[in-house]
Amino acid sequence: MQTKAFPPGPDTSPAANLFAMRRDPLAFFAKLARDFGDVVRFNTGAIDFYFLNEPELIKSVLVTRDRDFVKWFAVDRTKVLLGEGLFVSEGEWHHRQRKLSQPAFHHQRIAGYAAVMADYSRQLRDRWRDGATLDVAAEMNWLTMVIVAKTLFGADVDAEASEIRDALSAILALFERSTLPPDEAAEFDEARARLDATVLRIIRERRASGEDRGDLLSMLLLARDDDDSGMTDEQLRDEAMTIFLAGHETTANALTWTWYLLTQNPDAETKLHAELDRCLTSREPEAGDIAALTFTRMIFNEALRLYPPVWAVGRRALRDVPLDGFTIPAGSVAIISQFITQRDARWFPDPLRFEPERWRAESIAARPKFSFFPFSAGSRSCLGEGFAWMESALAIATLAQKWRLTLAPGHVAELQPQLTLRPKNGMRMRVVAR
Ligand code: HEM
Repeated sequence: MQTKAFPPGPDTSPAANLFAMRRDPLAFFAKLARDFGDVVRFNTGAIDFYFLNEPELIKSVLVTRDRDFVKWFAVDRTKVLLGEGLFVSEGEWHHRQRKLSQPAFHHQRIAGYAAVMADYSRQLRDRWRDGATLDVAAEMNWLTMVIVAKTLFGADVDAEASEIRDALSAILALFERSTLPPDEAAEFDEARARLDATVLRIIRERRASGEDRGDLLSMLLLARDDDDSGMTDEQLRDEAMTIFLAGHETTANALTWTWYLLTQNPDAETKLHAELDRCLTSREPEAGDIAALTFTRMIFNEALRLYPPVWAVGRRALRDVPLDGFTIPAGSVAIISQFITQRDARWFPDPLRFEPERWRAESIAARPKFSFFPFSAGSRSCLGEGFAWMESALAIATLAQKWRLTLAPGHVAELQPQLTLRPKNGMRMRVVAR
């Protein structure tokens, strides 16, 4: 690793850096890594950034030195929307909320949500028609949205689900724009108020009924801290919104890129189909099957490597943080990028090649652990990792059991790195019965 007391970086102006980072962030960071190596310093006017592209440094920021950093958000509105929820809170408060929420994501609970995941995957499978062309990105968004709504609110949402989905879609559409003109800012506030009202109503009714329905909301409602305190309605709302927001688009993108990669790699697709036919015969996949679906899981790992839904995270230093031969000064922001590190030839030879075999145990053991971190790591790692894995494996198995997908003629898959790594213009695909 080459580091210097004062890390190198581009000599372009802060304004030029900001412009280049906003215009094409993936190309911007790839160029920094190529030109300057593992530690790159650049300034955008308001902020000094330290871009770290080396597994040991990544581990320091996420795990070893995590108390020296707080999360940094490129979009300030994240905090407005998620209040004091897990994704944005810090320190003792975050620690408490995480402890209260964790049981809802215990693997036994996730096995319980699997029935909902499999059920909606089957609904989608049965809705598709042979020869139809559809936007797989929109289909995956629908799937992960209904799954998260149903696992959160259970039976309560059947009536309200579409209301919640509409309000949430309106919010998300406006969410990522860095500034909003007054009429759109008002629209954002209005959609948020609508969503709040619906979610709070569900929470109050549930609390009044005192019932444990076995869904995420019941788990969160019944959670108690050591001093026997639980969450208020407002805290529950913040956590419900967090799970909604953190839990559906990420998984939808991961699934969409998985289908795309399969269209580009027919050998892997053939092996996937063979595994499904062998392990399931014609049975419908369920939670207990996932362990045996080794190749299916290798495919999903490889998709998460090449197209990590969360493509970068930022951490602001609370104090001067000495790392290996240099210091990140208090107030500066450390940036690490799943997209860049997971495509580094040092850890993944011929990195752009889709190669599920990279996920054999012996290959994994031969690489540094922090060369792959799609769910981040440490105290702020993804709470929904097990949930996302169960959901994705069931969706892939259920859909690929019946359908083959091919890219629609003329559709060019392009990346759109926003909060998550989306396909620009969706993903037009043709479904063909197997
Ligand atoms: C493939 C799908 C997913 C990926 C790649 C993913 C990735 C991530 C990453 C990288 C973070 C940390 C972000 C940061 O440090 O700024 C995170 C946080 C989080 N994710 Fe996920 N996620 C996925 C699915 C889910 C699902 C399905 C849920 C819930 C149902 C979920 C809930 C959360 C929560 C609550 C946090 C905040 C945790 C905390 O700060 O304590 N995620 N996720």
